[in-house]
Amino acid sequence: METNLTSATSATDTKLAIRTRDLNLWYGDFQALFDVDFDVKRGLITALIGPSGCGKSTLLRSINRINERLGYVRTEGTVEVLDKNIYDDDVSMPQLRKDVGMVFQRPNPFPLSIRDNVLFGYRLHTPDAGKRSNKSVEDDIVEEALRKVMMWDEFKDRLSIKATGLSLEAQQKLCIARLLPVKPTVILMDEPCSALDPEATAAVEELLWQLRGEYTILIVTHNMAQARRASDECAFMLLGKMIEHTETERMFITPGLKETADYIEGRYG
Ligand SMILES: Nc1ncnc2c1ncn2[C@@H]1O[C@H](COP(=O)(O)OP(=O)(O)OP(=O)(O)O)[C@@H](O)[C@H]1O
Ligand SMILES: [Mg+2]
Repeated sequence: METNLTSATSATDTKLAIRTRDLNLWYGDFQALFDVDFDVKRGLITALIGPSGCGKSTLLRSINRINERLGYVRTEGTVEVLDKNIYDDDVSMPQLRKDVGMVFQRPNPFPLSIRDNVLFGYRLHTPDAGKRSNKSVEDDIVEEALRKVMMWDEFKDRLSIKATGLSLEAQQKLCIARLLPVKPTVILMDEPCSALDPEATAAVEELLWQLRGEYTILIVTHNMAQARRASDECAFMLLGKMIEHTETERMFITPGLKETADYIEGRYG
């Protein structure tokens, strides 16, 4: 049978890292997401854009279920991560937290050394971690993670300094580095550069391109220039709905809908 490329979004298509269907979400009585169907391709960087309050963070947080911590959130529909609906009863939350890492607006390293930050998740998920015999294993993990985020050369002789004293750029890179040892499939980033100056923003964007391919990155940004520079695909939301999702260049050159054009040209607040 001929492969139909236009229907290459079936549940068994491993090219997709994330696939939501009919995703609806309520905070109490307030509905924040409406029938969101969203496919995120594996190994790419996808930017999520839209005016303030349109539901970008809500959608992001439904992909690792941290919305639920609030207690008054109700979610309907499916969110598959690598073909598995993460809202199924048999989903292990520790495993989900390993598979889907998250980076926030303000860097939030632990008040520990650089080394202990990088090893934090690994130790949490590895029963024998912390044993003396593991020192060389841990050394390798720290080096690999810090190399990936381009911090190794600068910090290799200062791994014991406290992470909370670093520059914001280094703190944010470290928050990305500490996700890597548990080998996530997806890294969610909610405006990861909003606390950074332009130079640090450029450094983090460069890092995103380094991680592209090995990880699937979904990044929320208010910065249209950043969305254009730093993503393969771009998804535009408005009032809790997914309006348009396409290749980034195409979205910026020939947006398919007037709403998208209005937003990217700055006609919304
Ligand atoms: N914890 C919450 N409790 C109740 N309502 C919430 C909560 N978080 C968000 N909302 C509401 O849900 C809607 C979507 O909010 P969300 O934070 O997802 O938007 P956003 O696109 O990330 O906005 P911003 O660009 O300002 O970060 C908004 O109307 C918001 O007021
Ligand atoms: Mg937000």
